[in-house]
Amino acid sequence: MRLAKHLAHAGVASRRAAEQLVFAGRVTVGGEVVRDPARDVGDADAIAVDGRPVGAAGHGRVVYILNKPAGVVSTAHDTHGRRTVVDLVKAERRLYPVGRLDADTTGLILLTDDGELAYRLTHPSFEVPKTYRAVVRNPPVREPALRRLRQGVELEDGRTSPAKVRRIGPGELELTIHEGRKRQVRRMCEAVGHRVESLERLAFGPLRLGTLPPGGHRRLTPAEVERLRAGPRR
Ligand code: URA
Repeated sequence: MRLAKHLAHAGVASRRAAEQLVFAGRVTVGGEVVRDPARDVGDADAIAVDGRPVGAAGHGRVVYILNKPAGVVSTAHDTHGRRTVVDLVKAERRLYPVGRLDADTTGLILLTDDGELAYRLTHPSFEVPKTYRAVVRNPPVREPALRRLRQGVELEDGRTSPAKVRRIGPGELELTIHEGRKRQVRRMCEAVGHRVESLERLAFGPLRLGTLPPGGHRRLTPAEVERLRAGPRR
């Protein structure tokens, strides 16, 4: 298998980013620096990035998708003994949630043991879009409120970026944002006069919740992980 592909499969980086690591001279095969991303390698080769050994292809990091039920917290540990998203996913590795959902928010949350991927998915500079379905009070939601959400809303911690917003019922909105401030969707809706009654995350980057039942989880396929690593296409 090509070296860059092997690195991508092992969860080191996307294929393109892996090529850059190779070009930069940061990858060794059998102790020798290799600068050709197309070099043919196998599981028996001792490959390292910045001197750190890389596991065999396919035995790298894992990513799970979970449909978080309400009342479950999205930290790795809860000081009040409440159930966490980590408790719901049976995995042999120690997993961490990618970002946060409020305890009362339901829907798509990712868990992984890949710190670099988690960073890239949550750091605001990568602008990963997240889509939510909000049921709000005080229906119907009228055009001026939609317009304000689309332009960005002034909140106490500053103005938000414009949201993509679609009305899917008189009191039901689909919103896409790419920031991740605390209780952001709830605060944005409240600022335009519509308190959120229930909030569900439907999509994270290229991934959709689909038909996963509440509390259900599954491991992402290598192709899904690759799409996540490739970053948002906007
Ligand atoms: N925005 C919120 O207000 N809450 C969440 O859990 C996620 C986004």
